[in-house]
Parts: sequence; C-alpha cells; structure tokens
Amino acid sequence: MTASDDGKPCSLTRFLIEEQRAGRIGPDLRLLIEVVARACKRISITVGKGALGGVLGDAGGAQGASINIQGEAQKKLDVLSNEILLEANAWGGHLAALASEEMDHSQPIPDVYPRGNYLLLFDPLDGSSNIDVNVSVGTIFSVLRSPEGVDRPGDEHFLQPGTAQVAAGYCVYGPQTTLVLTVGHGTHAFTLDREIGSFTLTTRGIRIPEETKEFAVNMSNQRFWEPPMQRYVGDLLAGKEGPRGKDFNMRWVASMVADVHRIMTRGGIFSYPLDSKCAPKGGKLRLMYEANPMAFLVEQAGGAASTGRQRMLEVQPTGLHQRVPVFLGSKREVEEAVRYHAEG
Ligand code: AHG
Ligand code: MN
Ligand code: MN
Repeated sequence: MTASDDGKPCSLTRFLIEEQRAGRIGPDLRLLIEVVARACKRISITVGKGALGGVLGDAGGAQGASINIQGEAQKKLDVLSNEILLEANAWGGHLAALASEEMDHSQPIPDVYPRGNYLLLFDPLDGSSNIDVNVSVGTIFSVLRSPEGVDRPGDEHFLQPGTAQVAAGYCVYGPQTTLVLTVGHGTHAFTLDREIGSFTLTTRGIRIPEETKEFAVNMSNQRFWEPPMQRYVGDLLAGKEGPRGKDFNMRWVASMVADVHRIMTRGGIFSYPLDSKCAPKGGKLRLMYEANPMAFLVEQAGGAASTGRQRMLEVQPTGLHQRVPVFLGSKREVEEAVRYHAEG
C-alpha cells in the first residue's frame, strides 16, 4: 500500500483532494471521479452476487435477447451496470452528457438537474462473455470536456481525439476490486477495502516494463489476420530459434480490463488486430470507451498504444461507436508490432 506523507493509508478521496490542492484537477472533476468510483463499488457488489442475485445470463425476456447498438446480445449485468452509472451521474451537476457502449446515442443530463462541463463515456461492463463463467470483468470510463457554449451536447460533441481526455480509468472486478485511474499525471491503482467500502491507494505511479515476453491475442483469429500480424505473431511463436531470439508466453482472458490490468502489473502486449471478419466494421474494440481510455492509462504508465499504423490517442473519431484495431502495452514491444505493419 502507498501511504500518504503522514504514513496513513491514502483513500481515493484523499488522493483526489491532494490532486485538487496541487491544481491538477478541479472540484467538478474530483466529484465526477468519486461518483464513478462509487458506481463501480455498486457494480462490484452486483457482479459478486452472481447466480444468488439473479444477475447472470442474457437480458431481455419472453420477447428474446435484447440486442444493443453493437449488434451483441446484452447480458443482464450489461444493462444493470449501465443503469447504475446513469443513475449515479444524473444529479451531481458535474456532467453535461454521457455516452455508453450500451446506448445507441449519447444522453444529455436531464433538464431537471444542473449540467456541468464534462462528458463521460463508458463501457459499463467489459468482458461480458466471461460473466457467466466467473472470470474477471470490469468497467472502463473516459472523461472529456464539454465544448464551450454547448448547452445540450449531442453525439458529435463527443468526437474528440484521445489526447483531449482529462481523465480515464477502469475498475476490474476480480479477486480484488481495483480501480486504476489517470488524470494526466501518472497512472495509479486503488484497491477496494471491502470492510470500510473505500478505495485505498495501493500503487502510486504504475510503470509498465518497456520490454516483455508475454503477448495477449485471440489466436483463433490467426487465419483471418493481415500479413503483418501473421508475420509478427509467427515470429513471437518462433521463440529463441526465431528472429526475436527469445521465447514468449501467451495469455488471453477475453476481458480487455483483465488483460490490460495484467500488463499494468507485469508488462506485456495486448492486441485485437484487424481480421477479415471485423475489418468491415473497422475492428473489434471500440475507440471512444475502450481503446482511448486504455491508451491514456497505458501511456501515462510509460507504455504505448497504437492502431498498428497510428498512435491511438491521435485518431480523429468519426463515430461514437467506432471500432479500431488495438496494440497496447510494453513500449518497445508495441513499437516492434508497429514496425511489422510499417513494412507492409
Ligand atoms: P465487451 O464485453 O464490453 O463487449 O468487451 C469485450 C471485448 C474485450 O473486453 C475483449 O478483449 C474482447 O472483446 C474479447 O473478444 P473475443 O471474445 O473475440 O476474444
Ligand atoms: Mn468492452
Ligand atoms: Mn461491455
């Protein structure tokens, strides 16, 4: 645990007050992050109930599964997590509008409540395919400024590049519930102390090792990848005898939050590249509330994030649910993967 200057445990609240005192965030952004963290606590409790809470399985009912804008069947926990985040953020006056993986369009904060200067985007529950098999899932969020003079922001006002983010984070619901956060001054981890219900700072200033021997990709898509990806992974698998001169290990959780958290903890490279199945949609993972927040967190931790052909945070968004190919993690390894793509 990373104690404060007085040697006492540092709660998320204290961390944010000290960031505000240092002039790195304002009061509204502090409130926003506290509200999102509280919502993540509620989601953690809801996820943790599993079958006992009747929260497993697909959403929808007699009329059949409910399909979201992504064309994917929603899980009950996708819908519940989305509702928890909407409800938590409605009345505080810190937000102008919010957007979610689970909603076709963004939503301005209702007129009955005051509106603030921030836009919040989130994947309320990432890794949904793992819910029913008790594997770690999580929540991912990204914070942008609401454009000046816009009273009721619409989808178009969210289409800002990742470099415009003022904060980003994820909460992984695993053996521990851990919130990982950046406000643009490093990436920090807070573990939920369930006895007092408070997130406590456990790592200040995460640093991702620049080199790695571990890659994360869904190998079942190999035959659909573009040639540069085929060559890149082929050389990883060739190990010591191959051009990389070292053996690699592989992990694939199929929850981006869990794979990224492992990389935050011990390095690695995560990739969901283009393949001939997802290429028509631009990729698998969503830019605005998966790739961009994770890219901000990873870069702030000394790592790198790319589409394979462009720095992720510099992609100019064209749609709220736009998909992109993703390479992120240990800086040197991401640079290597980008080199293979540059060679064509
Ligand atoms: P979500 O559950 O929010 O739709 O996200 C799932 C994503 C991401 O978390 C994960 O890395 C990827 O989908 C897994 O894809 P495959 O199931 O194709 O491996
Ligand atoms: Mn997701
Ligand atoms: Mn999701």
